[in-house]
Amino acid sequence: MMRFKHFINPVETVKKIMNYYIKDGHIALDCTVGNGKDTLNLVRLVSEKGKVYGFDIQEKAIINTEKKLQKLNLDKNVILINDGHENIDKYIYENIDFIVYNLGYLPGGDKNIKTKALTTVKSIKKALSLLNNNGLLLITCYIGHDGGKEEQEAVENFLESLDQRRYNVLKFKFINQRNNPPILYGVEKIN
Ligand SMILES: C[S@@+](CC[C@H](N)C(=O)[O-])C[C@H]1O[C@@H](n2cnc3c(N)ncnc32)[C@H](O)[C@@H]1O
Repeated sequence: MMRFKHFINPVETVKKIMNYYIKDGHIALDCTVGNGKDTLNLVRLVSEKGKVYGFDIQEKAIINTEKKLQKLNLDKNVILINDGHENIDKYIYENIDFIVYNLGYLPGGDKNIKTKALTTVKSIKKALSLLNNNGLLLITCYIGHDGGKEEQEAVENFLESLDQRRYNVLKFKFINQRNNPPILYGVEKIN
């Protein structure tokens, strides 16, 4: 089993960045709701003063997450949308402070239903135009599954092309691990 002391894995790093960055009243967007772990964290962090949007193409993911939120009485300021994240501009008409993608397929679900290079990049482009100045966008890519490497390369090629006067872009990867460790990209929009 992998043990981390200070250099934590991307999933935990995303949580840490969320905890540190998100404030009461922020507006957040989860582009891959899945089992709703990130959505739930976001809802808690923005508090009742903020708002969270969530997208997933699987109705099951949206319904399950809605139920989880209702149980915890945290469903008031959440808008869950059963559509692809490549269509976020059809639903969101305000700026967003924090955006997260956890790409690939739903663990424990149908491995054939997964994010794809073309729609992912289309979505990231739209997400960046919604992102507030000083806002953050985080993307975790998995490269072990069919299509994963192609998607990660497309994401990286696009992010590399962003103007450094407008965006700070970071890549976070364990370079000595076997078995295709996930890769985290972070984008900060500059004022
Ligand atoms: C790795 S899982 C997300 C896990 C989630 N962050 C969690 O905490 O459980 C990826 C999710 O992306 C969803 N997905 C695939 N293509 C999508 C698309 N075009 N738009 C939105 N969601 C998509 C899948 O249905 C799946 O639930």
